[in-house]
Amino acid sequence: MKIISVVGARPNFMKVAPIYRAFRESKYADVGLTHKICHTGQHYDENMSKVFFQDLALPTPDFYLGVGNGSHAVQTAKVMIEFEKVLLREQPDLVLVVGDVNSTVACSLAAVKLGIGVAHVESGLRSFDRTMPEEINRILTDAIAHYLFVTEHSGLHNLKREGIDDEKIFFTGNVMIDSLIFYLPRAAKSNIFCELNVNKAEYCLVTLHRPSNVDNQRRLAELLNFLNELAKDKRVIFPVHPRTRNNIDLFKLHDKLDSDVLLIDPLGYIDFLALLEKAFLVITDSGGIQEETTFLDVPCLTLRSSTERPVTVEMGTNYLVGEQINDAKKYFYQILHGETKQGQIPELWDGRTAERIAEIIAGNLL
Ligand code: UD1
Repeated sequence: MKIISVVGARPNFMKVAPIYRAFRESKYADVGLTHKICHTGQHYDENMSKVFFQDLALPTPDFYLGVGNGSHAVQTAKVMIEFEKVLLREQPDLVLVVGDVNSTVACSLAAVKLGIGVAHVESGLRSFDRTMPEEINRILTDAIAHYLFVTEHSGLHNLKREGIDDEKIFFTGNVMIDSLIFYLPRAAKSNIFCELNVNKAEYCLVTLHRPSNVDNQRRLAELLNFLNELAKDKRVIFPVHPRTRNNIDLFKLHDKLDSDVLLIDPLGYIDFLALLEKAFLVITDSGGIQEETTFLDVPCLTLRSSTERPVTVEMGTNYLVGEQINDAKKYFYQILHGETKQGQIPELWDGRTAERIAEIIAGNLL
């Protein structure tokens, strides 16, 4: 029996790492189950990809497709063409995809067209905003997958409403939290605080990369002004995604930033986790960071008008801010004055999700 897990973009690596470890257990090898990794190359920079393989102790991928950048159609099509060749050669019994990036839907589609089963990890999440490319990727992947592994209750309701058969759906928890729990002890030894010369709990950590926030000059300038304002009270650490970096350069916004807003290159997993755990506040438009901050009980302002991860707002420490900067400021000053939400950890975010997924897959395949 052969399974190929797919990684493509930065948020995929920490989701596949615990699955890789779970399938490496001797009990699976003993019964002849092989697990391989295919990297599509959607993200290709050292600090968007390679550093994650080192930090997460992932092996060199068995297959590397090298698709790189391109429009959505070009990127998705290139992944399909190259992945189909791997599938024809390798004849796996199952393809496992994670998350919602272009590589997720592309590899799922290539597999089902060849009659190969697909398992989707982090299934069922919906922002109900179809202008987000990730929302389209989620809906399409879930519609054709054979195993749907769900992280939170909202996912179960969403899949039911879309008419997915109950027997395909498994509520297994969150593999991203498996990685977080596994690597926190290493993050505790990170030197990043010395390197950046910042004190624990004395900074806001910022990540922004969604097209809706960073592709429009006025919006990006408004967000950078907001960061300048935060920096009057707390230092701001901002590891900048390549898309955002390109736009800051293109719109010539670099000079507008206060010296207490520290723009740095994207970080590896361990250093980022260290900063996340000890942040006073996190400001983001990412998906996964909403979950990580909820687990870590760190307040998080999500600068989006929808979230596909509602449990982080309902149970966790996440605030869905919307588009108004004044609302973000209001929450910031509330938190600065000690008015924070009491968060709880969602069900089955316990570090053992990958084990549960491996058991289910092996139980069905073998
Ligand atoms: C992609 C995912 C998004 C995820 C994000 C995390 C889709 C539709 N989007 O968006 O869900 O949250 O990754 O980072 O799959 N670039 C580099 N080096 C790299 C990777 C990208 O310079 O290693 C540049 C590209 O050339 C492009 C820009 O960054 O100009 C955007 O990259 P792309 O992968 O297209 O989309 P993301 O915005 O990163």
